[in-house]
Amino acid sequence: SAIGLGNLWKFPYLAGKNGGGAFVVVYLGLIVILGFSLMLGEMVIGRRGKSDAFGAYNNIKKGWGFIGMLGILCCFIVYSYYVVIAGWIVKYIGMFIRGGLTEDPVLTFGNFIASGTSPILYSFIVVVVTAAIVLKGVSGGIEKASKIMMPILFVFMIVIVIRSVTLPNAIEGIKYFLKPDFSLITPAVIIAALGQVFFSLSLGMGAMITYGSYLPKDSNLIKSALYIPILDTVIALLAGLAILPAVFSFGLEPTAGPGLIFITLPRVFAAMPFGNVFGIMFFLLVLFAALTSTISLLEVVVSFVVDQLKLDRKKATILVSIIIAAIAIPNSHSFGPMADFKVFFGLNFFDFLGYLTDNILLPVGGLMLCLFVGYVWDKEDLKNELTNDGDIAFPLFSAWMIGIKYLGIQLLSLILLQAVGITGKKMSYSLVIIFMIQILFHVLENKRKVSAV
Ligand code: PHE
Repeated sequence: SAIGLGNLWKFPYLAGKNGGGAFVVVYLGLIVILGFSLMLGEMVIGRRGKSDAFGAYNNIKKGWGFIGMLGILCCFIVYSYYVVIAGWIVKYIGMFIRGGLTEDPVLTFGNFIASGTSPILYSFIVVVVTAAIVLKGVSGGIEKASKIMMPILFVFMIVIVIRSVTLPNAIEGIKYFLKPDFSLITPAVIIAALGQVFFSLSLGMGAMITYGSYLPKDSNLIKSALYIPILDTVIALLAGLAILPAVFSFGLEPTAGPGLIFITLPRVFAAMPFGNVFGIMFFLLVLFAALTSTISLLEVVVSFVVDQLKLDRKKATILVSIIIAAIAIPNSHSFGPMADFKVFFGLNFFDFLGYLTDNILLPVGGLMLCLFVGYVWDKEDLKNELTNDGDIAFPLFSAWMIGIKYLGIQLLSLILLQAVGITGKKMSYSLVIIFMIQILFHVLENKRKVSAV
């Protein structure tokens, strides 16, 4: 679920757009501060709650399912635009099979995404294939295949990185990507990096809860919560190193946005022996990584519909897919006929949904998760679930708790306040008030413990 277009498509273009190294340091910092802790939090909720995101929260504490619901909604929205980008990948596979790009990549890409119907049809292919996999219940097979495909993707990435960093003038791009200019770290950069941490790790939207619920009782959650963010970050960094040096070498704009990999990689492949074959293979692997993510996005929504609305799996999958296909249309049109049609905040449909999920729903989901783990869920029960009833040592339990309760809640509140426009003094006061409430709770909790003794 974690590795997907978030790493390969989104991370490089966000880094390009948000000051390169400045974005990368903030991203890495947030992975360390929040990524590991929240990953563990979601997985443990899933395994204990043994249900879809809504049911899992409810099973642990009645009345808290709404947090999961918010996540499911978010997955639904993300899925509706994710398929558009995945559709672009399908198109590129076809293009490389037919012998590569005939025109300048910038033109080819620009004409394609603006062409109206064609990109929509490609996104439908992704919707249908994903639905077929989820329907046939062959996700298990995909999971096994990913054990082979992901390492191959990794090797391909390394080859592309080597080609990219050895292009003339690539050093400029390497510097841009790896040498942070701290003066470029603005609130907007921090908000973008946080949204990307959630997006890339599939956090804040119930995906890791749903997957956690499939994990056997004796699996080691602590280990997984450590490995997943590390691997995910390595792939993202490799993607950045594959793209940005080439961008500079070919004199392209690092701030080009969502099209960045589609205009850069064809040029990199053109500068390689057997570039076309390489292009086919690479985009196929990217499509595979994208499908493992679309499967999990659809799975989150379908497992909710099946568990809570009591629809059978087949009907649920078809119904959700049809609605998604419908919403994919305005998403895709946002790059063509509807590019100037502003929905909210001066953003078009695609950009608005991206803003809504990355900057609002995901941080809200993360904040709720912290509140739930930090204050709602009984500590003993939580600790037992985490340590498999004491079988696994977790000496960092208290540190993790502090991370979730104080760092998590404070940081996520800060970012949310900022995202909704509460800044400066007002923001500082709000954070102090939140902190004081937290201290009060801390005192009350200890009192209760003492009187219980
Ligand atoms: N993490 C996935 C990616 O990086 C996207 C995703 C988010 C998938 C949430 C499932 C749930 O592409």
